[in-house]
Amino acid sequence: MAEPTDSQLISDYLVDLYGADPFAHVRVASNAHRVEHAASLGRGGEQTCGVYPSDAPKMRLLATVLRATGAQRILEIGCGLGYSALWLAEAAGPRASIETIDRFPDHIELAMRETEDLGFAGRIEFHQGEAQEILLRLSGPYDLIHDDGWFAEEPPYFQRMVDLLRPGGLLVMSNWFLLGHATTDKPEVDWSQFAGPDWATNVKAYARRLTSHPQLHVSFIMQPAWLALACKLHQ
Ligand SMILES: C[S@@+](CC[C@H](N)C(=O)[O-])C[C@H]1O[C@@H](n2cnc3c(N)ncnc32)[C@H](O)[C@@H]1O
Repeated sequence: MAEPTDSQLISDYLVDLYGADPFAHVRVASNAHRVEHAASLGRGGEQTCGVYPSDAPKMRLLATVLRATGAQRILEIGCGLGYSALWLAEAAGPRASIETIDRFPDHIELAMRETEDLGFAGRIEFHQGEAQEILLRLSGPYDLIHDDGWFAEEPPYFQRMVDLLRPGGLLVMSNWFLLGHATTDKPEVDWSQFAGPDWATNVKAYARRLTSHPQLHVSFIMQPAWLALACKLHQ
């Protein structure tokens, strides 16, 4: 068996410290689904399926943020099998509204099943389709938006997310390990296979766009959460 990476050791230690991951089995199911789904998608299948579930320490951090801010209207891009949406719903409490988006109908179906099985039925609203289109139909303001769909470049729906956020609201963007890899030039994976040869330039350009955006105040949280937190300052 391969030795665990430092990142994995830190993550396991933190989860143990926090008690346990209440949705661990959804994480396991997400990883299993990705492999299964890939078989029907052909070349690049796992990447196309895209269900790479969030890490528990990242979700714990978001749960802390939700509790501190009292965010009640929450939107997520990238439902997968619902692992992160369940964490958000639990932390925000039973009166909160959680909406999550995914392009694959079977991801939505599996996520709905998990939600019902875990007693969260009615607390998470699912939207199936391309985020770019769905976001145009939704109306804000949201207290918090979690973008777990973007990958390696500014997504086409970026400004729409900002527009949907209330002033003082928080845009949380996952997957910023890519900025770590682009900065150190020591990627653990050859991202050009999935995101093209300019992935590092594109990731840095998106980071620059965020930090220079007049409506946002942005901080990046690197290992092990790999998050960017951006507070909307004004309309
Ligand atoms: C990283 S996974 C989400 C994992 C999930 N948030 C969790 O923590 O388990 C990304 C998901 O977003 C979906 N996705 C990516 N880009 C999207 C887009 N532009 N519109 C709709 N769904 C998208 C993929 O189908 C995939 O299921």
